[in-house]
Amino acid sequence: MTARNSANICYSSEPGDAHAFTARFDRLYSRLARPYDLAVRLLPVWRHWLGAALPLIRGPRVLEVSFGTGWLLTQYAAEFETHGVDLNERMVTIAQRNLDRAGVSAELRKSGVEALPYPDGRFDTVVNTMSFSGYPDGRRAMTELHRVLHPRGRIVMIDIGYPPDGNRLGTALVGMWKWSGDLIRNMPALFESFGFQVRQQPVGGFGSVHLYVATKQCSG
Ligand SMILES: C[S@@+](CC[C@H](N)C(=O)[O-])C[C@H]1O[C@@H](n2cnc3c(N)ncnc32)[C@H](O)[C@@H]1O
Repeated sequence: MTARNSANICYSSEPGDAHAFTARFDRLYSRLARPYDLAVRLLPVWRHWLGAALPLIRGPRVLEVSFGTGWLLTQYAAEFETHGVDLNERMVTIAQRNLDRAGVSAELRKSGVEALPYPDGRFDTVVNTMSFSGYPDGRRAMTELHRVLHPRGRIVMIDIGYPPDGNRLGTALVGMWKWSGDLIRNMPALFESFGFQVRQQPVGGFGSVHLYVATKQCSG
């Protein structure tokens, strides 16, 4: 990151009341689940961002955390043993309906990222799109994503971050996400603090939408 770019970077701090933070977003998602479903279907740009994850998913076992209305699941679940969790009940219902309509099956559960209902080392890939910036405790969420991954498993994540080249429009978009309540973190630093080897590339939004592939490193 150059000095010129880093001048505009201001990462979020974690909220004091994680419960209130999550409850506010959860109420919002309950109200917006149906329009959200429609938006994902109608906005090619959103599907383009999420679709960047598809070629990077490795099986045989895949977990998608915070699948929303499940569009991405419908694109890959048939190829793997696929599981998914989302905190919001309406999202789970709509995603299940979308999977049924697509004739694709996946094992969906209602659960928070903070306590994933799976044993250690279970998954080859954890998929997480446009969601991490909505979690109130980044280290706790990352602890769980790391725990359920197989040694040498990978996280394939898409989320908002500052444009590496300091693009002004992209930086303004990051500001809008922050204004709406999302938490913008230094994701490469967070991945590395958990021992992941991480690579990232911008996939849209004038450099503000990032794809991260974080590979778990075997200990010992
Ligand atoms: C912006 S939507 C993204 C949905 C989908 N992954 C996509 O890219 O369109 C964020 C999703 O995260 C879920 N979520 C929010 N907080 C969560 C938490 N603590 N644990 C699990 N899921 C959570 C919401 O219910 C919602 O479905």
